[in-house]
Amino acid sequence: MSDPRSDAWQALKRAPEATLSELFARDPRRVEKLSGRIETGEGSILFDWSKTHLTDALLADFEALAKAAGFAELRRKLFAGEVVNPTEGRAAGHAALRGVGDEASVADAMALAARMKLLVEAIHDGALGEVNHLIHIGIGGSALGPALAVDALARDIALVDVHVVSNVDGLALEEAFRACDPATTLIAVASKTFTTTETMTNAASALAWLADNGVADPSGRVIALTAHPDKAVEWGVDETRILPFAESVGGRYSLWSSIGVPVALAVGWDDFVAMLDGAASVDRHFRDTDGRANLCLRAAFADLYYARIRGAETRAVFAYDERLRLLPDYLQQLEMESNGKRVTVDGSRVDAPTAPITWGGVGTDAQHAVFQLLHQGTHLVPVEFVASVAPGDNLDPAHHRILLMNCFAQGAALMAGKASGDPARSYPGDRPSSTILCDDLDPATLGALIAFHEHRTFANAALMGINPFDQFGVELGKEIAKKIEQGGGRFDASTEALLQAAGLG
Ligand code: F6P
Repeated sequence: MSDPRSDAWQALKRAPEATLSELFARDPRRVEKLSGRIETGEGSILFDWSKTHLTDALLADFEALAKAAGFAELRRKLFAGEVVNPTEGRAAGHAALRGVGDEASVADAMALAARMKLLVEAIHDGALGEVNHLIHIGIGGSALGPALAVDALARDIALVDVHVVSNVDGLALEEAFRACDPATTLIAVASKTFTTTETMTNAASALAWLADNGVADPSGRVIALTAHPDKAVEWGVDETRILPFAESVGGRYSLWSSIGVPVALAVGWDDFVAMLDGAASVDRHFRDTDGRANLCLRAAFADLYYARIRGAETRAVFAYDERLRLLPDYLQQLEMESNGKRVTVDGSRVDAPTAPITWGGVGTDAQHAVFQLLHQGTHLVPVEFVASVAPGDNLDPAHHRILLMNCFAQGAALMAGKASGDPARSYPGDRPSSTILCDDLDPATLGALIAFHEHRTFANAALMGINPFDQFGVELGKEIAKKIEQGGGRFDASTEALLQAAGLG
């Protein structure tokens, strides 16, 4: 008997129907069919996938694949708080943090959020003394979300000046020290496990910095954000300053938990909640919409079409908004750590590529650096543009107009191309792009934007039959680093020589 999932993939492998320009010429309703909006609160986000090669036929084939892959059941499990991370036997609790999920998970999340609100407001009210700066120490998912959200939302209004430090390279922490007054600095130690070497090393140095600079009770200036409060207590943090979150919340999905404290401290509790509410509107859209009308699922259809059918090895994201300059970094972890896998949930080898390599930058800068390859290079790179209709700046409106015009011009140029008798001056065109256009980049919109990508990543994984919620691939390097530190191992000749050369052998 044939496997319905591989039959669905086979159907998708048929030859491309037409070029993008031909697809537009054939169907006057193409933009309408392949664009959609999600209301995020006061505004909305437009998702325009019409400049991809998705067609009615491909969408129908992908819908058949979703059915064969049991997508609806996996999605039900996600929102029901059932196990969707089988290798670790865990649910994935990020939507519950936004109030969307099964009753018990949502109630637990709300209780923890209430505790977080109390501490955030107490800090704003001076309960821990004057707090002008926060050094937020964490790495990976314990840093990338807060860094993105603070950079996007707290540029001119920060109630507390936040510095996110992730790298164990002491230069990173020293830079934060230079910008902060130790007498009015709070340290947040953000680690789901509370064991990560980089974070614990930085946290110890931050405490030493406070002590060296005359702070009488350095550990009284520390808050801990973790799924392992016992470890934080052991490390010396007072229980009243520990904000826990559930084990079911994955590191790269943890911005919505207490890991979001720097965001709440910088923008205030109400705006933090607005960010959660914006994410919840996407949760409801994703949970309640079927087939191609589900915009996260539709985006995954296009992702998989390019990665698996057309062989695109990368996908590029360009934020035409300085406030989103950290979005590509954030998406790299979300997409590559979630879906960079080589086995399916049942342990068998995948027979096609999984996550493409996510990369990107900001427009217009990237146009003058990497767009040459996108327009005329030999790689197929689906490009995503992210922009906001309302400007973030207060300068001459010309700035924002030029920014947006350039954004739209790039998508048009990638698609249309241009013929020339001179091969060096001709553009092949037919290069796909998608555009995410926000009305305004307010907290709700940012939350919605991030949640859209979380669910898109989940949908990709569901269609490929892989588990997006574990990350065992990061462990081996950590183990070897430990062995080196303990001086207990023999390694390959190259590594041994490098260790010798650095005086570590
Ligand atoms: O090494 C990868 C990773 O486990 C990420 O998944 C995680 O976000 C990061 O490390 C930090 O982990 P923790 O929050 O436990 O310090």
